[in-house]
Amino acid sequence: MEAEKKKKIFSGVQPSGNITLGNYIGAIRNWVRLQDDYDCAFAMMDMHTITVRQTPAEMRKRTLELMALYIACGIDPEKSLLFIQSHNSAHAELAWVLNCYTYMGELQRMTQFKDKSARHADNINAGLFTYPVLMAADILLYQADYVPVGKDQMQHIEICRDIANRFNALYGNVFTIPEGMLVKAGAKIMSLQEPTKKMSKSDPNPKGYVSMMDDFNVIAKKIKSAVTDSEGVIEYRPDDDAKAGINNLLSIMAVMTDSTPEKVAADFAGQGYGALKGAVAEAVVEGIKPIRAEYDRIIKDKAYLKDIYTRGAETAHRIADRTLKKAYKKIGFIID
Ligand code: TYM
Repeated sequence: MEAEKKKKIFSGVQPSGNITLGNYIGAIRNWVRLQDDYDCAFAMMDMHTITVRQTPAEMRKRTLELMALYIACGIDPEKSLLFIQSHNSAHAELAWVLNCYTYMGELQRMTQFKDKSARHADNINAGLFTYPVLMAADILLYQADYVPVGKDQMQHIEICRDIANRFNALYGNVFTIPEGMLVKAGAKIMSLQEPTKKMSKSDPNPKGYVSMMDDFNVIAKKIKSAVTDSEGVIEYRPDDDAKAGINNLLSIMAVMTDSTPEKVAADFAGQGYGALKGAVAEAVVEGIKPIRAEYDRIIKDKAYLKDIYTRGAETAHRIADRTLKKAYKKIGFIID
């Protein structure tokens, strides 16, 4: 009997800054676990990063570093498709098409656009505005059933579904309608300094985030100086903003020790915040250590990385082209 066809997964990270513990917990760590059960494609989303000005030499470096980090975290290029977004022109091509099926009003509602245009008021470019359309193209080209992301990206998955449904309603079943997939704990890791805000790689204050590339003693220091509250009680109260700092530490600890925030809170009940912070710092450092050892080894092997992204680009192109041609044909473009 033919083996049951695996469901498809697509996801990616932008090589736009220091990859944070939030990116790891909310996304990459989860991908590693999905590789056996799903047909996975993961990309370095370099085309998305130019919506904000980048330094070219740094971009090249970061894209390769991100790829080495994916692999060091456990993404196996023999199991999952790994590629660089800009190596597959189908992304830009489908994005153009989908732009014509997306309304200005929909894009204006995107919180990431509102945030980023406030932060980069001198460069509110059209790419920043249509960013979610490119992201929709990324996902739809691979006919993904699921998109494992952090909570902050769920609005983009929603608009992707809306665009795909609209297109399908006009032309028949061209695109699989994808669903977002969130981790149970850690879908939104918060800033260590402003725990009601998401931990972000573009935070101007490096104390707010743990970078996967930070020195281990820096990581420990950042966690130990995390902002908490003055109540002095270790309890998990996810809906209480006053408890945001502690909730965040409990969530991080839960993920790093395969537990739940409630259990971790029970384990630390009656202890001081210092004890909790010390334990979280240790768990995070111990979790990152083996990844870093792998990373240091892989990043040196440029030929290996090049081989993977070259093969990845070919496969990505082959898969994506099928969808692109299908869409082109439906629209009325001559394809052969
Ligand atoms: P990016 O690069 O901002 O983040 C990459 C992934 O990390 C998740 N994430 C977090 N999860 C938990 N806590 C946090 N503090 C945290 N910060 C980030 C993000 O939700 C994301 O899953 N637009 C995307 C990149 C992208 C993409 C795609 C993703 C482009 N095309 C297609 C999926 C499918 C982005 O900017 O992610």
